[in-house]
Amino acid sequence: MPQALDAILESFHRAGQGHVFAFADRLGPEARARLVAEASEVDLAELDRLVSTLVRSSGAQSVDLEGLLPAPYERLPGNGGDAAAWAKARAAGEAALRAGRVAAFTVAGGQGTRLGYDGPKGTFPVTPVRRCSLFQVFAEKLRAAGLHYDRPIHWFIMTSHQNHAATEAFFLENGHFGLDPSRVHFFRQGRMPAVDFSGKILLETQGSLALSPDGHGGSLRALARSGALDLMQEEGIDTLSYFQVDNPLVRSIDPAFIGWHLLRGSEMSSKMVPKAYPEEKLGHFCVQKGRLVVIEYSDLPMELQRERDTATGSLRYEAGSIAIHIIDREFVRRMAGGTGGLPFHRADKKIATVDASGAEVRPAKANGVKFELFVFDALPFARNPVVIETARADDFSPVKNAEGVDSPATCRADQMRQFGRWLAASGVPVPGDSTGLPDFSLEVSPLFGYDEETFREAWSRLDPKPDVADGLCLTTPSK
Ligand code: UTP
Repeated sequence: MPQALDAILESFHRAGQGHVFAFADRLGPEARARLVAEASEVDLAELDRLVSTLVRSSGAQSVDLEGLLPAPYERLPGNGGDAAAWAKARAAGEAALRAGRVAAFTVAGGQGTRLGYDGPKGTFPVTPVRRCSLFQVFAEKLRAAGLHYDRPIHWFIMTSHQNHAATEAFFLENGHFGLDPSRVHFFRQGRMPAVDFSGKILLETQGSLALSPDGHGGSLRALARSGALDLMQEEGIDTLSYFQVDNPLVRSIDPAFIGWHLLRGSEMSSKMVPKAYPEEKLGHFCVQKGRLVVIEYSDLPMELQRERDTATGSLRYEAGSIAIHIIDREFVRRMAGGTGGLPFHRADKKIATVDASGAEVRPAKANGVKFELFVFDALPFARNPVVIETARADDFSPVKNAEGVDSPATCRADQMRQFGRWLAASGVPVPGDSTGLPDFSLEVSPLFGYDEETFREAWSRLDPKPDVADGLCLTTPSK
């Protein structure tokens, strides 16, 4: 250990980062060992590259927009898409599910700063009546789909160092929500050090580095490093259904999406929704030099975001990314082991730190830079990537902010609208406002029905039918 310590100290000094040990003499043996362990996580060569390309080179990174075109996508049958092709895709996806080839994959390592909730975001009570957590909603969807396809579904959950233990404890306390614990797999994502504007690693306290999760794109290397990919291979899983922890509306397991991906021989597929208005803050699916790319809303000039197709009047760059993907297992392995890999992005943030005397600093404005990887940056490397359209109301209503757009209130309302549509489709009129928000409280557990079709089946078997006028909460299957 002392030798390792010497080697680490020397490499940090050589890299101009020796200041991270400035207070090491004030620490007890355990705290010092923790600091050294954190330091040994840092890839100094990688950091040096990032500092020279993203921090010292004046900051503003301009995104190359040359030759950019809107990406083509598969329209839903109701919007002019090929109904027969969708049916074929669905059948192929269902066959893959019955064969046990598909696992669910949730990225849950984010810090959730905008929501400001104390605890892992997946434990946030999100449903309108039962106030179930996000994790419970996904668990019930996966349980229901596993029963439907007669093949229990493995679930991989990426956590962060910060929320790993709390996430695992939450599942234990809740009996894994009825899932077989041997099919629920947690693993931590990597961390990156934050630096000041001159490239020096920031200390969070005298005895710890300012480390933060390396972005959802860190999931690719974390899947490989954690052994998750090997486990999938042993289990005969070759396809991952990727979704974010903050979107309870997501069709966690969508056979048609899986089928489009498999039939096209795609390595990474994506869902789009037509942007609701030009300024909507979604990334844009585009094609550039023959490759599929996502251009963030902040990087696409507003005049392009406002451009309209002269024939149809719809936005030219209309394909908004909602962070739902199907990913091929071996593609993940290739990306994780690749020489170039995904590019890091720079985010200027307020980062709690200590000053030269070791006193705490809580900055009022951005004082440093965090480095993050984005999963959609893998798309240009993927063979035959497919983009399919989805109905926003049945796939996307994220909880990002404490209030306003994409908040718990908007998400609860979107869930109730969906349950209201299912009831209406089952022949039960649902009084509500002009946006389809029911007048009474309404919740349907995915165990009762997880989409319109499964809901209608379960509803038709209910005898007697409940009276909906005073509100309704359907939790258990009717047989
Ligand atoms: P967001 O970009 O919304 O970030 O993550 P966030 O950290 O959850 O929230 P803010 O920005 O601090 O308010 C989108 C998805 O990616 C996951 C999140 O858990 C969420 O499911 N994510 C994000 C990770 O798993 N790791 C990361 O490092 C970042």
